[in-house]
Formats: sequence, C-alpha cells, structure tokens
Amino acid sequence: MNAAERVRSSRPEAKPGTPRKRILTGIRPTGPLHLGHYAGALENWLELQHEYDCYFLIADYQVSDHANDLARVRNAVWEVTLDWLAIGLDPEKASFVIESGVPEHAELTTWLAWFLPVGMLERNPTLKAEMEAIQAPDDAATKGRSVPVAFYIYPVMQVANILLPRAHLVPVGVDQLPHVELARETARRFNREFKPIFPEPEALVGRVPRLVGTDGEAKMSKSRGNTIDLKDSAATVAKKVRAMYAGPPRGAKEPGLVEANPVFGYLDAFDNDDAEVSDLKERYEHHGVSNVELKDRLTRVLNELLEPMRQRRAQYEGNMARVSEALEQGTGRARAIARETMEMVRDALDLDYLRKYR
Ligand code: TRP
Repeated sequence: MNAAERVRSSRPEAKPGTPRKRILTGIRPTGPLHLGHYAGALENWLELQHEYDCYFLIADYQVSDHANDLARVRNAVWEVTLDWLAIGLDPEKASFVIESGVPEHAELTTWLAWFLPVGMLERNPTLKAEMEAIQAPDDAATKGRSVPVAFYIYPVMQVANILLPRAHLVPVGVDQLPHVELARETARRFNREFKPIFPEPEALVGRVPRLVGTDGEAKMSKSRGNTIDLKDSAATVAKKVRAMYAGPPRGAKEPGLVEANPVFGYLDAFDNDDAEVSDLKERYEHHGVSNVELKDRLTRVLNELLEPMRQRRAQYEGNMARVSEALEQGTGRARAIARETMEMVRDALDLDYLRKYR
C-alpha cells in the first residue's frame, strides 16, 4: 500500500454537508527540511490536505533551544514555508500558520499548564532525550547550555497547539507520540471537569517512522549535519549519497547484509520499484553488489523525487510576496478558530469575572 492508499483507507466516511475534520500538526523552524521530514510526515500531509481542514504550524514559540541564534530561526520560517510550497502543499487548501501570530496559543498554554502534572513532563521520553541533548557539551546548536524554562514547557504548548483548533487528527513522527498522548489526556480531563469542548485527538504516524542519517546514525538531524535537504541541488545530492555510510567495509563483489547498509533503508523509503529493490537485495546478499551501483541508483531515485520540488521552489522564490500572503491567510484563518475556542474556554473556566456585578 502506498502513502496515498494508506491515508485513503484511514479516511472517515465523509457525509455530504458535514464539515471536514480538522488536522493540526507542526514543525519547528530551525532550518531547511530534509528527507526525514518528508518520509516521516510531509508526504502524508500532501494527501491529507485534500480531505481535511489542515492547519500546518510553524512553531516559532518552541525554539528556545536556539535563542542564541534568532536570525537562523527567523530565516527558517521562510525556509520551512518554501519547502512546504515546494513539495506541493496548497495554501488555498491548507492553512500555513505562524504560531506566534496566534497569541491564543500562549494564552491556552497558560491555562492548560494548570492541568498537566509536572510528573507527566518528567516522564515524557521525548522531552527527556531532548533536554539531555541540549545539555550535552557536543550538541552543535546549544554547546551544552542549560535548558530554558520555555523548552521544558514546550510539550504543554504543543498540547495547546493541538487543542486550540480543536483538532481531530495529528499527523506526526513517532518521537511526537508522547506529546499527542498528553493532548489526549488533557482533553479528556478538561472535558470531564469543565465543559466538553475538545475532540480527543488521534495521532497518525508516517510511512517511514525514522530515516537514518547519511552517516548511519539513528536519525537525520540538522545539528549532526547528516541530512539530505529537500532543497539540495542534484549535484549536492550526488555528493552526499557518494559519501554515505554503506555498512562495514566490503569488497565490491563481496556479499553483504542488507540490514547493515542504510542505502537500502533509503531505497525502501524512496524507490517505487519494489520488484527491482528486492532483486537488488537478493543479489547483494548472495553475490555482492558494489556500493557504487547502489548509490548511483539512490542518487537517481532521489533526484527524480526532488526535481519537481526544486522547480516549484524556484517559482515561489521569485514571488516571495505570494509566500508571505500564504502565511498571512493561514494565520488569519487559524486565529479566527482560536478566538472561538478561547471564548469556549473562558466560559468553561468561568473567567468572565466582571459579569457578576455588571
Ligand atoms: N514538536 C514538534 C517537532 O519537533 C513540532 C510541533 C510543534 C508539533 N507543535 C506541534 C507537532 C503540534 C504536532 C503538533 O517536530
């Protein structure tokens, strides 16, 4: 089943006249997006935008680990938007949202923080791992700085991101599942103790939960410098693939283990010709296939995927006013729903103090 079919099979029966269900998901603006983002999430979004009312968030409140490099964060807002447009997300169909352009995110975060026990954050495995990385002396972005309070509470804000548009579905990578679980628990608790405002959001995980880095490390990540970016030129892709880690040293004609060679992981993720890939694996394990042959194939496959994105990107780069307009429209739409939700929240929490003696 390909990505499109998988999404289709999980689609709810759309009754005519019923409003489309809402999706919220987001990305932190830290730099250009890479193949890990694409296979793990973006590819799904492309399908989902046709079927759901989608809110794609640029989470610029949630990059306090990059406080020492604000210029990079501000620039990344454009990088991310251009990448979204380049892959074919349609700002007429989906709303591109700047998080800080909807300050209700901050407001709801403050209220929800009342109902999220500290212990729940302390047990959150994703948060734990990220805080350790920030503090590690070799983390390229942070050089071992201490964890900002804003970083510690970002899962709370992520819960607010999801609940503010009253989203039904949250397409994310596996590492984000603990946050979606927090959102579900918070929605249940709020609905039970105050008023039933929030749908219990469900997570939807992408086709390739985790793409390894070009260096063979467990994850593609900007700070490790082991990414292939969506905006990389054909020559850059060729160079990065040529330098890719391809398993333990092995003679060109020596058989090898498919699982030990990440090039196959990439072919599994991006090569649509399943029959040829399994044939290649067969030959690799029994007769040996040179890494050069594997890498040439991967380079071709990746450049076929990325070329239309490069072209679309170039068009938008020549029309940044249109890019800006996409953000403005999407943020405006998100803000309208946010205001609606906050009315409901204020009512549920009985915040209209002044009504009493009016
Ligand atoms: N924390 C997510 C990440 O690092 C990005 C994100 C922010 C997000 N807000 C969100 C994802 C809300 C899903 C829903 O990838």
